[in-house]
Amino acid sequence: MSFPEDFVWGAATASYQIEGGTYEDGKGLSVWDVFCRQPGKIWGGNNGDIACDHYHLYQEDARLMGELGLKAYRYSISWPRVLPEGTGAVNEKGLDFYDRLVDVLLENGVQPWVTLFHWDYPQSLLQRGGWLNRESSDWFTEYTSVVVDRLSDRVSHWMTLNEPQVFITFGHQGDYHAPGLNLEFSDALVAAHNSLLAHGKAVQVIRAHAKTRPNIGAVHAASIYFPGTEKQEDIEAAHSRMFSITGKNCWNNTWFADPMILGRYPEDGLRLFESELPDIPDGDMGTICQPLDFYGLNNYEGRGVRATDDGGSEIIQSPDGPPLTTMEWQVTPAGYYWGPRFLFERYKLPIVVTENGMANCDWIHRDGRVHDPQRIDYMARYLSELKRAIDEGITVNGYFVWSLMDNFEWAYGYRQRFGIVHVDYATQKRTPKDSAYWYKDVIASNGSTLTNLPGTG
Ligand code: FCB
Repeated sequence: MSFPEDFVWGAATASYQIEGGTYEDGKGLSVWDVFCRQPGKIWGGNNGDIACDHYHLYQEDARLMGELGLKAYRYSISWPRVLPEGTGAVNEKGLDFYDRLVDVLLENGVQPWVTLFHWDYPQSLLQRGGWLNRESSDWFTEYTSVVVDRLSDRVSHWMTLNEPQVFITFGHQGDYHAPGLNLEFSDALVAAHNSLLAHGKAVQVIRAHAKTRPNIGAVHAASIYFPGTEKQEDIEAAHSRMFSITGKNCWNNTWFADPMILGRYPEDGLRLFESELPDIPDGDMGTICQPLDFYGLNNYEGRGVRATDDGGSEIIQSPDGPPLTTMEWQVTPAGYYWGPRFLFERYKLPIVVTENGMANCDWIHRDGRVHDPQRIDYMARYLSELKRAIDEGITVNGYFVWSLMDNFEWAYGYRQRFGIVHVDYATQKRTPKDSAYWYKDVIASNGSTLTNLPGTG
């Protein structure tokens, strides 16, 4: 099973989860630096102060990516490392780090895919109201132009926001993630709207400043529903779940993607949120909706759906003892055919899987290797379903495994291991897991070894 010739095989990380170097070379504080200090928020009281020490080990990490044959690496830039106060003075040493990282990636044959915002928001800007302040979109634009001016002679793939669903719901409406504001829903909607404006203005800035032709997307935490059978009514039931808003929160597929791509908020959300909606000035929707080159799809698990006799639908209850990862997320490969298909049909943008993978109970075995057959099987199953979508005409341009290496998994701290490369946090030793070598072969064969079962060659 070969994938399209120019299919982008990659791996992903995010700045706060791997870099460390928190108090070095003039970096400002991010909301995650501060949030991790609050007792009880993070498993084991962990934080990202050192993480994978990638700030110092980036050359070794880039070499490893080259050895694994990765075509691309998706990573994020820490806004407060570049602009310690969020706006104003640029921290040249911080910017230099990202400059050198781009060079070393390219030297190793790995294409840089840069996410501008993966949640480590400058603490100084939080003190000025954060995403609740309408000026926040201009702050983000200023930061974007600094980064694009410096890197776009070599970087052409850009992502604006990572998973607004998550940082608005968990970090603003709730207090599970930084900054942990516990806002009224009406205020969460203001923050969401301002982040959408930031996205739109950033896309304009990238297009205006980029020195090489940019390829731009936003990254969504996609909730995938798939039909339990291929009967038309089940397909329609799953489709309708994918694109309906049923709860007073932003955790859905349309509240962010519809404005970005279709230029309007979804009707059902507007009705449901009527009493909480902010005033939306004329012109905002036009700013938010900018031409995009791809839809960034992050997804780890989905839910099966069937039509009910009364014309509605229900989630198919999983059997007792479903296949689970250590996050207790279900293994549901069928979503990787249906999710991309439904999203491509609605938004008509090429899909890039910007995150997929699993946390596993990985350790170094007595033979010195890390055997993770679950991850190999998980990836093979999801990629096979993705291939079915491609074969049926859905444009899917790439796949990035989450993650390149074990890292700081937000509220779970270092408890969860998502990497295809094992990290010993005491020594910072990297050990590629079996899945890394398996993925290397998948990449080298452009997917044709996917059908081989482990151990059968
Ligand atoms: C996503 C995040 C990513 C990682 C994975 C497991 O929601 O974007 O940083 O934590 O989940």
